[in-house]
Amino acid sequence: MIDTAKLTSMLPAKMRSRLDGWFEALEILVEVRDPRVLRSLGPSGVKGLILQRAKQGYPTKTRARHETHFDWTYPADNPEMRALYTRAKAGQWNSDSALDWSTSVDPYDPARPLLPEGFLDFDALAARGPKLDARERARLIHSLTSWMLSQFLHGEQGALFAAAQVTEAVQFYDGKLYGATQVMDEGRHVEVFHRYLDEKLCKLYQVNDNLFVIIDALMADSRWDMKFLGMQIMVEGLALGAFGTLYRQTAEPLLKELLKYVIRDEARHVHYGVLALREHFRELSDSERREREDWAFEVALLMRNRFLALEVYEEWFEGIMTRQAWKSFVTETPGMAQFRQTMFSRLVPNLREIGLVSQRIVPRYQKAGLAKYMNGLAADRIDAATMIADLDRAA
Ligand SMILES: [Fe+2]
Ligand SMILES: [Fe+2]
Repeated sequence: MIDTAKLTSMLPAKMRSRLDGWFEALEILVEVRDPRVLRSLGPSGVKGLILQRAKQGYPTKTRARHETHFDWTYPADNPEMRALYTRAKAGQWNSDSALDWSTSVDPYDPARPLLPEGFLDFDALAARGPKLDARERARLIHSLTSWMLSQFLHGEQGALFAAAQVTEAVQFYDGKLYGATQVMDEGRHVEVFHRYLDEKLCKLYQVNDNLFVIIDALMADSRWDMKFLGMQIMVEGLALGAFGTLYRQTAEPLLKELLKYVIRDEARHVHYGVLALREHFRELSDSERREREDWAFEVALLMRNRFLALEVYEEWFEGIMTRQAWKSFVTETPGMAQFRQTMFSRLVPNLREIGLVSQRIVPRYQKAGLAKYMNGLAADRIDAATMIADLDRAA
């Protein structure tokens, strides 16, 4: 571990934070132990973490290298995927009429808070320096909610393109039909998250560097199953957990309703991911399967350890407290800890179900504190209605 605090402590605060950010990027790349995983994430890591290409204010272009798979015989090749396609057609919704966009949203209304005040431990924050009054606390909650929803939005843009690529590339004909509905779903998700941020919260954050790295690497990967594993199982699986936490905690009615609709769609997406990959991974060689198993574990850790709202820190506290102090605050604060808990309780059972948690890797899950989620239900066993009912019960 590099002692960045010692190296940079003599510098002015702003420059110190910037340098600490670069050291962090180096640490992330050094942390990845498997050379094949590093090869797959490395180029996007340099592009995202060091060059911060997504934050320069112009579009990102990423070259895709997958193959398009045609089948001119149109086989009925997967009844479960076909059933999902039928359900997905019936489950389409129109974002203009399904949601009441006339709802007026006041992020500072104590009667309908975006997140409960207990979501952040303000005493723990004060102990690290910043002491906020009631108004500032509400503003910080507004920033944090906007940051989370912005990351959901950026993730949805990735999901939209990944769904389109995977629809071209999979070998299942029934899967392609289903995939077309997912492309529509993801387009709608981009629309509703962007509209909510733009019209109601009036705030949009840039894409988090770590999320950018994962999305960019998946877009470029030539293997459809890696795109699928990355987007459908990891990014969307984790997002589904995050949506659930937010759905349960928010008292803002439009956001709650919006999340309920999105969760219903996402439950289908993750279900499809489990079906397609379980099938496909059975046909891989041992070495190919091991590579995916390692990749999934490393990416899960990256997302757990690195999704720390540093963009909010840079806006609010750069020069007031150190990045290190912010990171420990975010890691420990109750709302974010609950986020991680829900996210991994959804993700790990899905990884198990598709065959990516063999005895070989279990000790690493145990060491990372993730083994406790191993016995949960996978997405093909939970439907959206049950998921929403569970969340309502827990609220
Ligand atoms: Fe989505
Ligand atoms: Fe999705």
